[in-house]
Amino acid sequence: MSGVSIRPSTLADAPAILALHLAAASRGGGLAREPDEMSLEPIQAVLAKALASGVALSAWSDGAIAGEIHASRLGPRQFDNSLTELTVAVHPDFQGQGVGAQLFEALFAKARTLAGITRVELMCREGNTRAVRLYQRLGFVIEGRFIRRVVLANGTVEDDLAMAKFL
Ligand SMILES: CC(C)(COP(=O)(O)OP(=O)(O)OC[C@H]1O[C@@H](n2cnc3c(N)ncnc32)[C@H](O)[C@@H]1OP(=O)(O)O)[C@@H](O)C(=O)NCCC(=O)NCCS
Repeated sequence: MSGVSIRPSTLADAPAILALHLAAASRGGGLAREPDEMSLEPIQAVLAKALASGVALSAWSDGAIAGEIHASRLGPRQFDNSLTELTVAVHPDFQGQGVGAQLFEALFAKARTLAGITRVELMCREGNTRAVRLYQRLGFVIEGRFIRRVVLANGTVEDDLAMAKFL
């Protein structure tokens, strides 16, 4: 086990979450945005949305951020049963220690307390095999694929997988 503690994120955590995303993107990739596409304002916006209509949690170790996960409702009431727009990132120093799995389990637990949430959705490019394997182990299934949706900086083209877990 990782020894991190998980707590709800707040808007004040946005700078730490930005630093975490920059670290995760610059070492190994996996996030949709590259470092030069990241800034504080979009992080504050998605955090605010997740805090208002979904879940935002972060993992900490000795005051340093080790990981974060957030997801929100889309907006129209007919989708209120789903948590979507999910992003998860674990700092490279903490990857492979179960932090990602712990963040998801905490998100599922919190989601079960929210009125009407029955499914959690995410998108993951097919080449992020470690993430896809983790999601499948957590109970996500591949519901479909967006063919050749992702074009990486090195020119690699990949399908984007639509995955969901029912609570
Ligand atoms: C994808 C990501 C969130 C997973 O987080 P993580 O904390 O590394 O995940 P976990 O440690 O819970 O599980 C990953 C693997 O480590 C293994 N693991 C779990 N606990 C472990 C431990 N104590 N020691 C070693 N390995 C461990 C798991 O069994 C799992 O193995 P697998 O690769 O065979 O599935 C993380 O790698 C990350 O942030 N990547 C960059 C950003 C990204 O890709 N985000 C997702 C976009 S869709």
